Amino acid sequence: MLATLDDIEKVAISALKEVQDESALEAWRVAHLGRSAPLMDVFDHLGGLPKDERPAIGRRANEVKRRLEAALLEKAEDLRQAALTRSLQAERLDVSLPGRPMARGRLHPSTQTQRQIAHIFAEMGFQVYLSRDVETDEYNFQLLNFPPHHPAREMQDSFYLDAPHEMDNPFLLRTHTSPGQIRAMREFAATNPDNPPPVRIILPGMCYRYEQITARSESQFTQVEGLAVGKDITFSDLKGTLSDFARRIFGENVRTRFRASHFPFTEPSAEMDVECFVCGGTGCAVCKRTGWLEILGCGMVHPVVLRNGGYDPQKYSGYAFGMGPERITILRYRIDDIRNFWANDLRFLRQF
Ligand code: DAH
Repeated sequence: MLATLDDIEKVAISALKEVQDESALEAWRVAHLGRSAPLMDVFDHLGGLPKDERPAIGRRANEVKRRLEAALLEKAEDLRQAALTRSLQAERLDVSLPGRPMARGRLHPSTQTQRQIAHIFAEMGFQVYLSRDVETDEYNFQLLNFPPHHPAREMQDSFYLDAPHEMDNPFLLRTHTSPGQIRAMREFAATNPDNPPPVRIILPGMCYRYEQITARSESQFTQVEGLAVGKDITFSDLKGTLSDFARRIFGENVRTRFRASHFPFTEPSAEMDVECFVCGGTGCAVCKRTGWLEILGCGMVHPVVLRNGGYDPQKYSGYAFGMGPERITILRYRIDDIRNFWANDLRFLRQF
């Protein structure tokens, strides 16, 4: 019996040397340590042996079992190491290489200014209303009191879409954010047509004009429009709100002035200027040598526009304004050329 156990051990150990992978190892375990392995057979028959032989055979059988189990563990570890070495060679992953740096993005300077404007007006109770970039002639001009062929349209030539349309109502890229005034008023008024709710919104977004591109004008630019409609809104509300806005964005001591102007959709109309602090008011290329920079157009919403928006001009009044975040950014950072904004030159963009 002891000789049988020697054989069992020798056969098992030499079979283990042939094992090359995990499934062969599992097959080996079943064959040599499993329930029907020859070694288990020895254990099963221990009870039938003469009493004086039992301890020696039992001891030897246990010893063989422990050796085979130890050899199994060792082989499993060898296989694991071999697999690791193989995959390290095949995949050649160098975990000690430094990581690739992640490029951190940032907001475009114009977006940053838009958000500051929105923040200031939010503190005054204005909500943000987003309107569309592609408009119809009706919304971009007609409902804002620019009839077809009106000379005031000449300031705002646009890019037209080559799409089927009704006479005198082509699709175009909006030339200003003002058409959003009509869309917003109509949406608000629809909630209660007999007694429409007050409106206090700003409308930020991209605008487009067929312009000669110079240091001061681009064919695309952003605007932030503002609109307040309600009962008993007066020109002094407009002046107070916009002067306070100028102080909040340009500083406590900023000088501003309102000049009479004309827009078809406001009456009366004005423009608000801020002292040019690129040159300190002495005159430079940015302020066209006037010492002042026009920041925004504004006025009391024209009765025709109120009516087109669904608000009865006998009961409601309102003010509106429109400004260009690029112009404001130019002022604040003393940028001398508006073309930098869309030139996508990282040397410019990284400064903000
Ligand atoms: N839409 C005008 C423009 O692009 C700017 C403007 C002026 C907007 C007066 C207004 C306003 O709301 O009241 O030139």
